[in-house]
Amino acid sequence: MIPVFRPLITDDEFSAAHEALEMGWLGMGSYVGEFEAELKRLIGADDRYVCAVSTGHAALHLALMVIGAGAGDEIITPSFNNVADFQAILAVGADPVFCDIDERTLCIDLDKAEALITRRTKAMIVMDYDCILCDHDRIAEMAKKHGIRVIHDAAHSLGSSYRGKPVGSFSDITMFSFDPVKTVTCIDGGALVVKTEEEFRQIREMRLVGMGQPAEVMYQNQRAWTYDVRHLGYRYHMANMHARLGLAQLGKFDRISTSRRETARFYNAKLADVQGVRTPDTDFEGITPFLYYIRVAAEKRDGLRAFMRERDIDTGIHWQPGHWFTLFKDCRHGELSVTDRVGHEILSLPLHSCMDEDDRQRVVDAVVEYFSAVPAGK
Ligand SMILES: Cc1ncc(COP(=O)(O)O)c(C=O)c1O
Repeated sequence: MIPVFRPLITDDEFSAAHEALEMGWLGMGSYVGEFEAELKRLIGADDRYVCAVSTGHAALHLALMVIGAGAGDEIITPSFNNVADFQAILAVGADPVFCDIDERTLCIDLDKAEALITRRTKAMIVMDYDCILCDHDRIAEMAKKHGIRVIHDAAHSLGSSYRGKPVGSFSDITMFSFDPVKTVTCIDGGALVVKTEEEFRQIREMRLVGMGQPAEVMYQNQRAWTYDVRHLGYRYHMANMHARLGLAQLGKFDRISTSRRETARFYNAKLADVQGVRTPDTDFEGITPFLYYIRVAAEKRDGLRAFMRERDIDTGIHWQPGHWFTLFKDCRHGELSVTDRVGHEILSLPLHSCMDEDDRQRVVDAVVEYFSAVPAGK
């Protein structure tokens, strides 16, 4: 079976895990500090602060906490987004407001988003859907004009650049995920990039159940036994072993990025002209793709998935839109016609760094075969 996702785990990660266990300091320690420094270097965020946490979801929750989002506030987000974003909004007591996406980019539709802004709007969570990034310049302008904060969900866009600037180096607040299937994995992990020292200090405390333990002490594999507690907090810090694995992954980021981009380009070249298949409208320049999606007619998607499965090729669905879920069905929203359509059409094909040329070709052959064999409308 060719899986949709597969982390690139080599001897580096086995040695990394061994090293971390041998060190014996399993909680937050020196490797977490090193991971933050290495991530900061990768994203070129020299004038920003990077804080590693336990998951991308935790990062989103802390981002909303640090901007003071709470009861009575609305957070605008595309409905075509990860459940973690919606749950983080509920976790601070705020209300998600669902916005539609742009037909070409599958990122938030900024005209529709602007129309949803009210006096209650505290922030927008914008998300780069895979290989095409949001219009971040316009997002920054809109945020300034309306006095709202921006949380940039960059779970899909680590290592990509927007107009020559690395993702993570330019947004108000940026969040990353290093979950088991992400471009870089820590098994589980996340990070926030913030602009001010004050927000950085708060996030550092909030990730440690509010304990004002100086990270500088913990990064020497030591603990301060006396400290103050100033903020509500959660046990959201990153553990040393996870950070060590993340360091091993960052050490081969070029290999990970190049292999993913090559496969995505191969798919685009081979599938763009297949009738019935819509491929991402990008040449992947400056992009490290997290997933590779195609869009097919809604009534063909299940048939294609079954056809691929029979050929031992897995596919995925990213995602079901938020407003389709019971918990979120009553949230305020704008017109969501693109989201509703894309939610039925989207299909992820295998994309990871463990694929060889045969694997890619098998995926392409299966898609081509399905669309040349299947009668129209089936
Ligand atoms: C766009 C997006 N945001 C947030 C998350 C949540 O990250 P995590 O799984 O690390 O909690 C994910 C995870 O898949 C994601 O794809």
